[in-house]
Amino acid sequence: MSKVLIVYGSSTGNTESIAQKLGERISSAGHSVEVRNAADTQPEKLADGYDAVLFGCSAWGMEDLELQDDFIPLFDGFDQMNLAGRKVAAFASGDREYEHFCGAVPAIEEKASQLGAEIIAEGLKMEGDAGNDPEAVEAFAQDVLKRL
Ligand SMILES: Cc1cc2nc3c(=O)[nH]c(=O)nc-3n(C[C@H](O)[C@H](O)[C@H](O)COP(=O)(O)O)c2cc1C
Repeated sequence: MSKVLIVYGSSTGNTESIAQKLGERISSAGHSVEVRNAADTQPEKLADGYDAVLFGCSAWGMEDLELQDDFIPLFDGFDQMNLAGRKVAAFASGDREYEHFCGAVPAIEEKASQLGAEIIAEGLKMEGDAGNDPEAVEAFAQDVLKRL
């Protein structure tokens, strides 16, 4: 059994719904899962005690990438999370009409990699909430589960 932390930043609930679905799916596979809202989460030593951390964050920029408000302090504090050697994957809800579709996903992957985390699944980028594309959520959950 692995200990998994899922942290999400979500303004209208779409990324939150993906986080909750992933939490249900991964815990039903026998792992210990904690799902936390970025609004109530501090970056310091965040990853301590967890085998894997899944980050979910929507994007709200127009031309430039802007991360969801609650997630910004976490993103700025990634270097304080103790991510080195930890398994990490990213997910987001977004809108393909925008230039940086689910732009938080590659941003999180790049920063976590630079800090020594192991990216264990290709990031999930989808539109709408978890119910909009259950197959995509399930495929991402399966990818993560294979590497736990
Ligand atoms: C002003 C504005 C800017 C947005 N920028 C982006 C963006 O850069 N990339 C993207 O994929 N979606 C963008 N979106 C769409 C939202 O990220 C999308 O609705 C998402 O599902 C919201 O997820 P949340 O409810 O988890 O915050 C934008 C929406 C608005 C209104």
